[in-house]
Amino acid sequence: MKGLILSGGKGTRLYPLTYTRAKQLIPVANKPVLVRVIEMIRDAAITDIGIVIGDTGPEIREAVGDGSQWGVNVTYIPQDAPLGLAHAVRISRDFLGDDRFVMFLGDNVIEGGISGLIRQFASSDWNSQIVLKEVEEPQHFGVAELDASGQIRQLIEKPKDPPSNLALVGIYMFDHHVFEAVNAIRPSWRGELEITDAIQWLVTKGYRVFPYVHKGWWIDTGKPTDMLEANAHVLEELTPYVAGAVDADSIVDSRVTVEEGAQIINSTVRGPAIIGRNTVVRDSFIGPFTSVYHNCVIENSEIERSIVLEDSRVMHIQTRIQDSLIGRHAAVEADPRKPRAIKMNLGDHSRFWLP
Ligand code: G1P
Repeated sequence: MKGLILSGGKGTRLYPLTYTRAKQLIPVANKPVLVRVIEMIRDAAITDIGIVIGDTGPEIREAVGDGSQWGVNVTYIPQDAPLGLAHAVRISRDFLGDDRFVMFLGDNVIEGGISGLIRQFASSDWNSQIVLKEVEEPQHFGVAELDASGQIRQLIEKPKDPPSNLALVGIYMFDHHVFEAVNAIRPSWRGELEITDAIQWLVTKGYRVFPYVHKGWWIDTGKPTDMLEANAHVLEELTPYVAGAVDADSIVDSRVTVEEGAQIINSTVRGPAIIGRNTVVRDSFIGPFTSVYHNCVIENSEIERSIVLEDSRVMHIQTRIQDSLIGRHAAVEADPRKPRAIKMNLGDHSRFWLP
């Protein structure tokens, strides 16, 4: 089997972070979402992985390289325009050949692994397997309606009036018959070739598409709140370790990971949380569900349920910071000089909330 990861898209809902960084490279619990996806596919014993890239291709190539770091062999497949998931499958034909494959959206984070599922499909005679998850707002996703026996009745992309609350998770398994489907369908109202329509085509033509309903959590990381939620879930799954230094005046509980070279000085860190390589936490409180990435400084401040990206600093902030996403090379600081006013230098599409 082969793997196909879709890693294009502009990530507009994550501006300003995604002005300068592909959304799939934003870390969750200090590991880029795309790397989590690569590892999941590798853990299912698939080592030939194609990554479909768009405008942010150079950055993805730089971060992932040939994949050898994760024990996989990566082939890049450039997509000239974001013409849809089914279009991405179309242009990957040469790479995929007649092999069965798993397609994974590079911004999806899912509980546990999917190795079992992929192995099951590899040895089955199904033409496709899809993953479904009950959600509260199915209208934002592809939606599946099943019949009484659990077989697929119909699939619709982002229906105004959803026939069920079962969303299509961004993990799909196919055999080569999917190429007939992606060549047969027409663009949707949003001008894209929808993978949902391609799967519906397979169902209509009598191919065997098996629906698997996932019980754990699943997050499609489109918005800042999704990133924070995914971060919280993944932090709970981590096996913590302390490789950095924690001084005698600090309290770091058993659910905290302190990466190499990090220093915790006169601070309290309450897990689940992760403090990245060479980050310094001094005279501060880091609360649960917080990920601070590499080379940051958190000083005389309190922060919880937040993500701080690399090379940033949070200094002398007297109000607790919560539910925040702080980009790279950012500075959140108190300024003792007069006037005592709020001063900002925010990027385009930034948001800033006062209590
Ligand atoms: C895509 C698919 C949709 C699926 C979702 C999962 O949506 O079109 O069917 O439910 O991924 O993440 P998009 O991210 O393109 O809006």
